[in-house]
Amino acid sequence: MFEDQWLGHGSRTRAFEAAFAGHLGVAPEHVVFVNSGTAGLFLAVESLDLQDGDEVVMPSLSFLAAANAVLTCGAKPVFCDVERRTLNPTAEDVESALTDRTRAVVVLHYGGYPGDIERIAALCRRRGLTLIEDAACSVASRVGGKAVGTFGDLSMWSFDAMKVLVTGDGGMLYVRDAEQAARVRRLAYHGLAQPSGFGHAKVSARWWELDIPEPGRRVIGNDLTAAIGSVQLRRLPGMIARRNEIVALYDRELADTDGLLTPPPLPPGHESTHYFYWIQMPPGIRDQVAGDLLADDIYTTFRYAPLHKVPAYGHTGPQLAASDWASDRTLCLPLHPGLSDEDVLTVVTSLRKALAARGAGQAT
Ligand SMILES: Cc1ncc(COP(=O)(O)O)c(C=O)c1O
Repeated sequence: MFEDQWLGHGSRTRAFEAAFAGHLGVAPEHVVFVNSGTAGLFLAVESLDLQDGDEVVMPSLSFLAAANAVLTCGAKPVFCDVERRTLNPTAEDVESALTDRTRAVVVLHYGGYPGDIERIAALCRRRGLTLIEDAACSVASRVGGKAVGTFGDLSMWSFDAMKVLVTGDGGMLYVRDAEQAARVRRLAYHGLAQPSGFGHAKVSARWWELDIPEPGRRVIGNDLTAAIGSVQLRRLPGMIARRNEIVALYDRELADTDGLLTPPPLPPGHESTHYFYWIQMPPGIRDQVAGDLLADDIYTTFRYAPLHKVPAYGHTGPQLAASDWASDRTLCLPLHPGLSDEDVLTVVTSLRKALAARGAGQAT
């Protein structure tokens, strides 16, 4: 890699895009390697050419970049509710937030659980809406063998340092429509019709001249991170297998714990990346339990803080009762392939102790 003397966007980027396209079961020209999942989300939303007054529906429990991307494009994020136990929206949740100003829907797959994606995709097709999948957590998630992220029109994955497939920073975009994919590729690199430089100068004796059909940014990936991504992709099955083992261990150890709910079983045909292992407990004790675990050096967190509660996003719609319910009760436990069985049991012991101390069985 370093002997090549070239670390920028080049052959290794194209190789990673091709390998990732193979992993998804799509053609490589539909896949664009960018420098973060957020950049991918912004590009996806930007390519919809939203107008003032247009609305984009997303679950309140979304990653904030989805709402930021919509607002930055001058449109309005509209938040829908989720299903309490999976923290994913159902097609009915999405449908109830649609208006005649809705142009698109953005859904993420909570913790890698595919959720109601087939029915949401069918709803969007029926209503003529663009579906963007925020597949940041779902690099290995499938429904009936079909990769999550290929149900919608555009989707993105994140490879940041916290994710399952990690390149340090990075993201992949999938764009179903070939022409739109070519446009997104241009927008990711300044909007140039073809990359500048000697190698692409066949159109002119002056290889420094520019052709910009529309202005873009510079959010491309590079060969250094792409090389890491290609190796990570080869290792993905092993990393997912270990995640599955850890989830099974948590499930077994935490089953029938008083006052505790564990993630519901996956529906037949659904495969999860198992990015989160989330538990739910009586609302009055969740924060205390998180504090008790932290005192034992065990970091837990809640993803994703409900966006309908963030004043900047201006939610004026209906109460989102299930999002509120889940936001008061949910905690994500440590989950990564570096955990040994012993580590998992340490978390379980500390959690059981905290739940008992806080009266989980009696709390409401
Ligand atoms: C659901 C979701 N979407 C998007 C992103 C953004 O990805 P990145 O950190 O690569 O910009 C994240 C990152 O945490 C995420 O969890």
